[in-house]
Amino acid sequence: MSITASRLGSAPITLDWSNFANVPPAAGTRPRPGSSEGFSESAKEECKEAWNRLRTRFSTGEVGFYDAPINNDLSQAKECIELAHKYINAGNFSDALVLGIGGSSLGPLSMLSALPELCKSAIRCHVVDNPDPYEWKSTLAKLKPNSTLVIVIAKSGTTFETMAQLLLACDWLGKERWRSHIVAITDPVRGDLRTFAQHEGIPTLQIGPSIGGRFSVFSPVGLFVAAIAGLDVTAFLNGAKQVRDHIEKGPIEKNPLVILGWDLLRHAEKRNIHVCMPYSTRLRMIGDWFVQLWGESLGKDGKGFTPLAALGATDQHSILQLLRDGPDDKVTLFMTVDKVPDEVKIPRLTPLGGQTQLPSFRLLEGHTLHELLTVEYRATSLVLTKQGRPNVTFQLDQLDERSMGALYFALCVLTAFTGTLWGVNPFDQPGVEEAKIYIRESLTQNDPRNAPEEDTNSAVARLRRGRE
Ligand code: PA5
Repeated sequence: MSITASRLGSAPITLDWSNFANVPPAAGTRPRPGSSEGFSESAKEECKEAWNRLRTRFSTGEVGFYDAPINNDLSQAKECIELAHKYINAGNFSDALVLGIGGSSLGPLSMLSALPELCKSAIRCHVVDNPDPYEWKSTLAKLKPNSTLVIVIAKSGTTFETMAQLLLACDWLGKERWRSHIVAITDPVRGDLRTFAQHEGIPTLQIGPSIGGRFSVFSPVGLFVAAIAGLDVTAFLNGAKQVRDHIEKGPIEKNPLVILGWDLLRHAEKRNIHVCMPYSTRLRMIGDWFVQLWGESLGKDGKGFTPLAALGATDQHSILQLLRDGPDDKVTLFMTVDKVPDEVKIPRLTPLGGQTQLPSFRLLEGHTLHELLTVEYRATSLVLTKQGRPNVTFQLDQLDERSMGALYFALCVLTAFTGTLWGVNPFDQPGVEEAKIYIRESLTQNDPRNAPEEDTNSAVARLRRGRE
């Protein structure tokens, strides 16, 4: 029997792929590493070879996220904590307005929404990513320029959504507050945000050139916002480090993340849709973070998985029917939390004058909401397993900084490895960059200060004519 559930070393997280290991992929697919026949020699070699290629990118400094938990130059954790303490201790700020999009917002957003009870600082964070006028106005209506710290995050320093919001925020703050009320998190050298911050004397934190947007939660993108909110940045990095240690110590072909990556690829032809379904409202935004990480990293060269975000138990009443009886083209990735501080006991009541017992009331009384959620997860997993629909579970011991650091890191490594094994570059995003070119062109063409002469050969004009 092969092992199909494993702790990720001393990290507070267990990966259980037992309901995946036994499900056959499309006919004629190569053997899986952890099957009862064992890890075939060729599979082992392929995984080792892919890992070595990826590892070279880590060790040469080309890709930085993997070493961030052990290297302050990459994480900038010390600088983040010091600067955050300066603002918290000054006591001038009640709120932080965090501006960023994609990899520059989804990490902080998902972390803050996972751990609100642990956000102990007096500064409340508000993350705005979409340049939506309703959202912008309603967020600002809650804030006062005097007591708001604006944290603007853009690796490139030019992203239009974020720069538009920065311009609005600068205007709202008034120039006299720029130096004292803005922190910029961006590339150390390039980009308009860097130039602007340097010129205006605005404090900055740097995102190392080797840290890509969607892998940046272990840089100031995640760490400074966490520190401002009062989260324990060191514990967060420790969780990531524990997963890293586990990878470093064991034989790579026995690492559960590597086996999972292999298995997902083995099923790629038939099961191309991956549903991320945490059984915890606190982890709902992790679904959005995962969708970006998985979609943008692997979706290239005609390859890729389609990631979907769902929430258990809510979406049992929406997507479960499809998962069970719809096309057999999905793998479900569950996330669960073992322990919660207060399970919330369901009370025993005596309705109807205590004369009659209502069966559903009776069944629930004395249990807890946490038990109910856990039972619902098990039931869903069973429904899928009995139907031969593969599912995997990331089981967190509890919700805290360490387990979140471990979860983010495990998923980043899974993504980086799966992409490398598949032969795609998980760290670029040419499609996103191309859209940025068209946006730039469109804004330039519509700028009343520029002569609005139609360039019939422009990318935008071609797009409008529907040829691309
Ligand atoms: O993962 C990526 O690199 C992208 O999704 C970016 O995070 C996103 O485009 C935002 O870029 P920036 O941080 O430059 O504003």
